[in-house]
Amino acid sequence: MISNPLLSECFVYITLPGTIEPVTAARFEITTDYSGAPLGHLVYGKSYLQRADAVPIDPIELKLAARVYQTTAMNGVFGALRDAGPDYWGRLVIEHYVGKAPLGELDYLLHSPDDRAGALGFGLNKNPPAPKREFNRTLHLARLQAIADAIVKDEELTPSADKIQVAELLLVGTSMGGARPKAVVEDTDGLWIAKFNRLDDKWNNARIEHAMLVVARSCGLTTAESKVVPIGDRDAILVKRFDREKVAAGYLRSRMLSGLTLLRTEDSHRGRDRWSYILLVEELRRISSQPKKDAAELFRRMCFNALISNTDDHPRNHAVIAKNQDWKLSPAYDLTPMPHVSLEHRDLALTCGDAGRYANATNLLSQSARFLLTEEEAKAIVFEMRDRVKASWYEVARAEGVSEKDCERISGAFAYPGFDIDAQTAQGH
Ligand SMILES: Nc1ncnc2c1ncn2[C@@H]1O[C@H](COP(=O)(O)OP(=O)(O)OP(=O)(O)O)[C@@H](O)[C@H]1O
Ligand SMILES: [Mg+2]
Repeated sequence: MISNPLLSECFVYITLPGTIEPVTAARFEITTDYSGAPLGHLVYGKSYLQRADAVPIDPIELKLAARVYQTTAMNGVFGALRDAGPDYWGRLVIEHYVGKAPLGELDYLLHSPDDRAGALGFGLNKNPPAPKREFNRTLHLARLQAIADAIVKDEELTPSADKIQVAELLLVGTSMGGARPKAVVEDTDGLWIAKFNRLDDKWNNARIEHAMLVVARSCGLTTAESKVVPIGDRDAILVKRFDREKVAAGYLRSRMLSGLTLLRTEDSHRGRDRWSYILLVEELRRISSQPKKDAAELFRRMCFNALISNTDDHPRNHAVIAKNQDWKLSPAYDLTPMPHVSLEHRDLALTCGDAGRYANATNLLSQSARFLLTEEEAKAIVFEMRDRVKASWYEVARAEGVSEKDCERISGAFAYPGFDIDAQTAQGH
C-alpha cells in the first residue's frame, strides 16, 4: 500500500479480453485548471496503441487514439476510472486504514485492492504487478462479517486504524462500489460479492435482495446469480461476479462501465438532470452490440423497479460490460424494495417518462418507443409484470426464507396503488 497522500499521477493497467495478466494501457494525471479546479489527463501508451488486441478503456469517451484526453468532471477522474474505484463502503475501509484526510481521488484508486469491478487496475509502476491469486475464501465469511460489523460500528466515531487491526482491514478491503458492507470471496465456482446484513437493518436484507432477484428472473429479467448463506445467526447474500470468469490459470475480466458514466454525469445534485432511463436507453443503444434486446431489457428493469418500489435505482445500479469487443447491458443487481408511506406517488431515482420520475404505468409507457418497443409490446410487459409481481412476490419471498414478519414489513412496496392510477386508459379497457 502507498503511504504518500494526494498523489497526482498513476498508470492505468488493463486485463485484455481472453487474458489473465494485466498490461499497461495509459498514464493518468490530475492537475488543476486555471481556476484551481481538478483537471484529469489521460494518455494511452504508445506500445499499448500498437497492440492489435488493444481495447479502449471507454469506447465513447476514451477511444483508442494518440492524444491527450481531459476532463474537469468528477474531480478530474474519468467516469470509466471512477467506476473501478471504491464508493462509500470501500472508502470507509480505506479511511480506517490510512486515516480520513487528506485523501484525493487518486489515493482512493491506488489504495483499493485488486478486486475492483471491471478490467482496470492502477499503480505507480510502469509495469503492472502480477495479478493477485489469493482471495478470501467463503470459509472466512464469519471473520469478514465481524470486521465489517466493527467498521460499521466505528462509522459514526472517528475512524482510526488502531481500533481495527490493519491486517484485518486489508482482508475485507474491497474496492467494489456501493454503500453496504461487503467483501469479495471465492469458492470453487468463482468470485462472489458477499453483502452482509447490518445489525441496524430493519429487515433481513440478504434474504429479501435474493428473493427480489428470483422474482425478477420470473418476470423475464436477466439477473446476477445469487444465494443466501447463513453466518452464525445472521444471513448474507452472495452475488456471483459477472465481470470475472474463472479459468484454469486465473480470472478473465470484463470491462465495465456504470450507468453514471454512460450518462456522462455525476452523483452530485448538479448531475441529476441527466439521471434518466430515457437518456440511458439512448446511450445504451449507442454502445450495445444488441441494442434491441438491451433496450427492451432496460425497459423491463425500469418497470420492475417501479413495481417493487426500488427507488434506490440510481445510475450506479446499472452497468454495461464487455467480455470481448462487444458491449452489452450487465445482468441486473442490487434490487431492493422500499415500502414508502405514500400510496399514490412514488418516484424512481431516474426519469422514466413524460411525467418525470413517477413510478406509474402510464408514465412508464409514455416513452416506450425509445426502448424500441411498440405500444402493444410495452403494455404487455408492464401489465404482465404487474400481475406477476402482485401474485408471486409473497410466495417467492417465503420460499426463499423471508420471515412472515419481514414480508409484512415490505408488503407495501409491491405494485403500490399509484402504479395503476390512470392506467385503465393505458390498458385499453
Ligand atoms: N454481480 C456483480 N458482478 C460484478 N459487479 C457487481 C455485481 N453486483 C454489483 N456489482 C458492482 O458492485 C457495486 C456495488 O454492488 P451493489 O450495488 O450490490 O452494492 P450496494 O452497497 O447495495 O449499493 P448501493 O450503494 O447502491 O446500495 C455495483 O455498483 C456494481 O458496480
Ligand atoms: Mg448499488
